[in-house]
Amino acid sequence: MILGTAGFTALQCAFTTKQTREVLLLGEKVQDVLVTGASGGVGSIATMILSKLGCNVTAVTGKDSNSEYLKSIGAKNVINTSELDKEARPLDKGIYDGAVDTVGGNVLSNVLSHVKDAGIVAACGNASGIKLNTTVMPFIIRGVKLWGINSVTASIKRREFLWGEVEKLVDFALLEKSIKEVSLGELIDVYPKMLQGKTSGRYIVNLNK
Ligand SMILES: NC(=O)c1ccc[n+]([C@@H]2O[C@H](COP(=O)([O-])OP(=O)(O)OC[C@H]3O[C@@H](n4cnc5c(N)ncnc54)[C@H](OP(=O)(O)O)[C@@H]3O)[C@@H](O)[C@H]2O)c1
Repeated sequence: MILGTAGFTALQCAFTTKQTREVLLLGEKVQDVLVTGASGGVGSIATMILSKLGCNVTAVTGKDSNSEYLKSIGAKNVINTSELDKEARPLDKGIYDGAVDTVGGNVLSNVLSHVKDAGIVAACGNASGIKLNTTVMPFIIRGVKLWGINSVTASIKRREFLWGEVEKLVDFALLEKSIKEVSLGELIDVYPKMLQGKTSGRYIVNLNK
């Protein structure tokens, strides 16, 4: 229950970024990865999973106050979203072997420009916007792959495989610390804060509360 669709999406993204390149495409090892919207539901679990898979995760967050929390769940570095939320150059310094993007917009454009040769960017979200302003350069010069993730249409076979990996990759005791349990009635206070970006972690609605 704690993982939900966000957890499943994080699993899909993390496996795409790391295992698809290493195992399916027989590519080089994926070590340095970027996760955007890192304190969100998908981002925080993707951070944890990629770290458990042995990657050095750079977490991108708009909330500097979440740095320690992100490091506690596996991030090696934390950078502020503002560093990527600007017009992107067609190609920028190649820093990351892959990325999980939950944000879209300018942030995704910059992520694409910063990914090294043959890296995979698993894009699942549009928290900052649906538009993507990019060029063909990351794709044709570096062979970067933009891999769309949709958790609704994932096959049963893929679901069974990924859920089977959860035990190894998710530290539930750690995750519990970022969970707040609320009643249905309490949501009326939580939603406005959520819409203003003032919440982080996961909320579970306990209908019996
Ligand atoms: N494709 C799929 O199957 C699928 C499945 C599940 C979710 N999604 C999508 O994935 C995205 C993330 O879902 P979630 O459950 O993780 O949402 P969430 O818990 O609300 O987290 C989103 C995070 O994105 C960052 N963010 C929010 N507004 C932003 C802005 N204007 N600019 C830059 N960053 C911003 C924040 O991270 P910081 O607090 O760290 O700054 C926020 O915590 C959503 O767009 C959701 O619709 C897609």
